[in-house]
Amino acid sequence: MEFLEAMQHRFACKSYDTKKAISASDLTKILEYGRLTPTSFGLELWSFHAVTSKPKKQKLYHACFGQEAVATSSATIVVLGCTADFANPDKPLVQARGLRFPDPLDVFIADYRPYYEFLKQEGRLDCWLRSQGYLAIANMMTGAASMGIQSCAIEGFDEGMVLSVLGADPTLWQVSLIATFGYPSEAERPKIRESLEDLVVYH
Ligand SMILES: Cc1cc2nc3c(=O)[nH]c(=O)nc-3n(C[C@H](O)[C@H](O)[C@H](O)COP(=O)(O)O)c2cc1C
Repeated sequence: MEFLEAMQHRFACKSYDTKKAISASDLTKILEYGRLTPTSFGLELWSFHAVTSKPKKQKLYHACFGQEAVATSSATIVVLGCTADFANPDKPLVQARGLRFPDPLDVFIADYRPYYEFLKQEGRLDCWLRSQGYLAIANMMTGAASMGIQSCAIEGFDEGMVLSVLGADPTLWQVSLIATFGYPSEAERPKIRESLEDLVVYH
């Protein structure tokens, strides 16, 4: 499917066909779209939790205030971003990621540290870490649409409950965004969007 066509036909699906599961290879593809998404400094300070087990989905459903899309999804993917403290240049995750780059680790850290301190001073660290997950989910959602799989972003959740369901340590991880995936059991909804003329300012 063309990229534009996938964008046009993706819609926020609230109810899925519980008898039609996403194949394991398609789920891997969707996760791959997330993995290939760029991150600030290339640090990938995130992890993806793909939930397909019924009992866990049921728990997530409650953690998402009873949203049907979660309960009926074939897979619900939770993107976690690390906490501001865990993103500290002296912490093991950043050091491990930094070691993969062509430059020596101390060169990378010397580049990263001032930016980390700047964001900390501005009170933007948490937002910086959470917002990157939105890009991964966006790519997963459009990628899924190109394969005929629908999705819905889910921002309505109790963070503590979600982390507890996933067994994720809240001192290390925060929830960035959740998305449900599956084959719809409802009709595609038409797009409601402003026109480009009303949205875009050309300079
Ligand atoms: C960041 C974000 C969070 C969202 N959270 C929810 C949610 O918790 N529950 C829900 O039913 N829809 C949620 N949505 C879906 C939006 O309501 C939907 O995408 C929007 O109305 C546009 O409709 P469309 O996706 O069908 O084009 C969310 C969408 C985004 C982008």
